[in-house]
Amino acid sequence: MHAWLCENPTGVDALIWKELPTPVPAAGEVLVEIKAASLNFPDLLIVQNKYQMKPPLPFVPGSEFAGVVRAVGAGVTGLREGQSVACLQGTGGFATHVLAQASQCMPLPDAFPHVDAAAFIMTYATSHHALLDRGQLQGGETVLVLGAAGGVGTAAIQIAKAAGARVIAAASSEEKCALCRSIGADASIDYGRQDLRATLKELTGGKGPDIIYDPVGGELADPAFRSIAWRGRYLVVGFAGGPIPALPLNLPLLKGASIVGIFWGGFAQREPQRNAAMMQELAAWYAQGRIKPVIDRTLPLDRLKEAYGLMGSRSVKGKLVMVNG
Ligand SMILES: NC(=O)c1ccc[n+]([C@@H]2O[C@H](COP(=O)([O-])OP(=O)(O)OC[C@H]3O[C@@H](n4cnc5c(N)ncnc54)[C@H](OP(=O)(O)O)[C@@H]3O)[C@@H](O)[C@H]2O)c1
Repeated sequence: MHAWLCENPTGVDALIWKELPTPVPAAGEVLVEIKAASLNFPDLLIVQNKYQMKPPLPFVPGSEFAGVVRAVGAGVTGLREGQSVACLQGTGGFATHVLAQASQCMPLPDAFPHVDAAAFIMTYATSHHALLDRGQLQGGETVLVLGAAGGVGTAAIQIAKAAGARVIAAASSEEKCALCRSIGADASIDYGRQDLRATLKELTGGKGPDIIYDPVGGELADPAFRSIAWRGRYLVVGFAGGPIPALPLNLPLLKGASIVGIFWGGFAQREPQRNAAMMQELAAWYAQGRIKPVIDRTLPLDRLKEAYGLMGSRSVKGKLVMVNG
């Protein structure tokens, strides 16, 4: 097998494409031949030693992938050789093969292509958990999605629409805004050019959004929160913009609003049954055509460094997926 190896987490340049022995699955594991692996923002942070999870060195980055089971370890039930699966396990995906915990593999129906499946779990699970569970989104409410053309942002637009909300998508260029409208956003704000607060006021008749979904942080958080509706919920999803914002606590007081933390990985670990039910609902929505990953482009796995460069420079709309020939 071949894999991109991180021996020294000093950044993307230090990754090395290496031939390694193909491993044999232990009890409870399966060997997956990887067909597709998507980039998620943590994949960028982890190779720079900036992510909360710090795997022992050396490691193979790539948190999320889909492929075909090629060998099954002892005690594994429910998965067989030749079965297509999707898996999110933090590392291992930027390779031709990987060992995966059978319990973390989601069996895929034939109608679920590997490229879509590799771009599904992290973004849709995060956005579903954020909007419907933590945010208690109700039909007819207005949702503002920041960084709306990104991975979790595009999933948030589709899930909020599936739940009957009105969606305002905010992103840094008109091109990104157009993509958001094309996948269902009712209105958009180009915060590279337009004033966020003034435009939000205009778009909501002065009321403000009921829910703000924020995977960006940085300078957007303060003006966004100041625009929130009475009883609004501000969903803290991530800090792709860099700085972690600090909000004055008089703001939630004055709006009767909540600041709600989102940690989907923690939810999946602590509440596995609720997470499994949520994943089942998401798979059904995919089968019904209500949600579909936005794939910016696919690239062969040997162009991983180029893909990382696109993500780091905010050039991606939706998801980048690496594929094995
Ligand atoms: N809490 C959770 O459970 C959870 C789960 C998954 C992901 N996350 C977090 O959510 C965030 C987004 O993840 P993602 O996979 O959706 O990433 P992504 O596809 O790269 O999207 C991030 C968006 O952030 C915006 N952005 C602003 N400043 C940026 C910068 N300096 N560099 C890169 N992007 C910047 C970009 O939109 P514009 O150009 O339009 O501003 C970009 O589209 C990350 O912080 C990630 O760690 C959290």
